[in-house]
Amino acid sequence: MKRLTIIILACISMLCIATVALAVAPAPKDPVEMKFPADGNKYAPIMFVHHDRHLAVEGSCATCHHKWDGASAVTGCSVEGCHSDVSKENKKNPESYDSAFHSRTAPNSCVNCHTVTLKADPASKAPKKCNDCHTKKNG
Ligand code: HEC
Ligand code: HEC
Ligand code: HEC
Repeated sequence: MKRLTIIILACISMLCIATVALAVAPAPKDPVEMKFPADGNKYAPIMFVHHDRHLAVEGSCATCHHKWDGASAVTGCSVEGCHSDVSKENKKNPESYDSAFHSRTAPNSCVNCHTVTLKADPASKAPKKCNDCHTKKNG
């Protein structure tokens, strides 16, 4: 009987550990600084906020963090192998740094999702104009 209790307790604690490991880290509460990963940026970095309306987009985390496996640490958009290409000649590629934020077709670019949001609700506060997002010049 005693042994059975120990086995049951061991199973319960193992389940707890597994649940903790599966629990996904929440989105940062503080604004995340988005900085041009090279020299020659025109504007000051953008502070991205995970506000409730962002977290409520269809698909939530996975829509924006579209390469994330759901378990490991979330990386920034411009890490090597993702949207790291800042060259002018590749600007129009879907993988470019520019496309990540300004693509007019990708459902998860800042500009396109805001455009779709504004179409559905013209009273929306989703920013669409350059200066709405890029409020400050660099320097
Ligand atoms: C919905 C927000 C949003 C809008 C609207 C927007 N951008 Fe951006 N843009 C970003 C984000 C996010 C980045 C990545 C952060 C960075 O590099 O500053 C970025 C980066 C850039 C960069 C590279 C960084 C730099 O400072 O040189 C340029 C250039 C740029 N945007 C130009 C524009 C222009 C021109 C427009 C209007 C046609 C525009 N953006 C509209 C969000 C936006
Ligand atoms: C509307 C788009 C969007 C949604 C939804 C979203 N995020 Fe983010 N998240 C971003 C952007 C943009 C950044 C800044 C990326 C960068 O710095 O290049 C970011 C950054 C992060 C970072 C910091 C990464 C770093 O560079 O250190 C974490 C962690 C994170 N998000 C977790 C989450 C989680 C967890 C969820 C879901 C609960 C979520 N995010 C939902 C867009 C989003
Ligand atoms: C998949 C959809 C989606 C994506 C991608 C997305 N947003 Fe948004 N964004 C929204 C929605 C929805 C709102 C809320 C509009 C409203 O309140 O009327 C919003 C609002 C905002 C606002 C205004 C917040 C305020 O103070 O009211 C900013 C600034 C913003 N987004 C920046 C960004 C930037 C920068 C990116 C890209 C890095 C981005 N968003 C990507 C859907 C998106």
